[in-house]
Amino acid sequence: MISLIIAESALEMVPKEIRTHPSVRNHAERARRNPGDLLLDRSYHHAAMKGLRNAEKRGRPDLVHFALLSALATPLYLQDGLTVYLHTTDDLVITIGRSVRLPKTYARFETLLVQLLKTKVIETNGQVLLSISEMSFQELSRKIRSDITVGLSSSGSMNSVRLVAEELRATENATFVIGGFPKSDFSQEVLESINSLYSISPTALEAHLVIARIIYDLEVLRNL
Ligand SMILES: C[S@@+](CC[C@H](N)C(=O)[O-])C[C@H]1O[C@@H](n2cnc3c(N)ncnc32)[C@H](O)[C@@H]1O
Repeated sequence: MISLIIAESALEMVPKEIRTHPSVRNHAERARRNPGDLLLDRSYHHAAMKGLRNAEKRGRPDLVHFALLSALATPLYLQDGLTVYLHTTDDLVITIGRSVRLPKTYARFETLLVQLLKTKVIETNGQVLLSISEMSFQELSRKIRSDITVGLSSSGSMNSVRLVAEELRATENATFVIGGFPKSDFSQEVLESINSLYSISPTALEAHLVIARIIYDLEVLRNL
């Protein structure tokens, strides 16, 4: 089995310390919601985010939406050859069930994720689609128990997509890790849990593109 971890994803509710900031209050009024019922989103809360710890990695739920859509549309996932986990900057892990179809429209995705962050599970017809647990990246790695964990980063050593896919296919259980954040690199905790760190392009790419490229080559190796 191949697992994908979208790590340190920029997905969280607006944190308490900025809920009274004017940019958050304005957004909440327009959306007719409480400030604590909004996802942190740099496109609305840029001014409020200035003082936040680790701000450059946070507040981009749109990137997470793209990354998930990219993974969940692939034959590899749809034919049960890929398990997808979303790890967030504040150490929550969202486990994606089998054959999950997420809303393509961002507004509907946002509503679903706010519901998930509050209720911890989304079910339909008795099947768990999405569930959340509190878990650090290292705890998740230990739970998955892969034979090999490969990180993808523009600061990794240069390698072709095909060779990365072959390395992942060479063992029974392998995991690849993509950053779910807009800027910066993996934290030390993530780096300590991976066996190799590869770059697949001299250019810094968007996470959804890297996901699609790696999965495509995994599919080619499996004749999917
Ligand atoms: C927008 S980037 C994060 C920015 C980071 N400075 C970077 O370039 O890796 C999101 C994720 O895409 C993946 N990524 C981006 N460019 C890559 C590259 N050239 N090779 C491999 N992975 C890449 C990494 O997993 C990264 O964490």
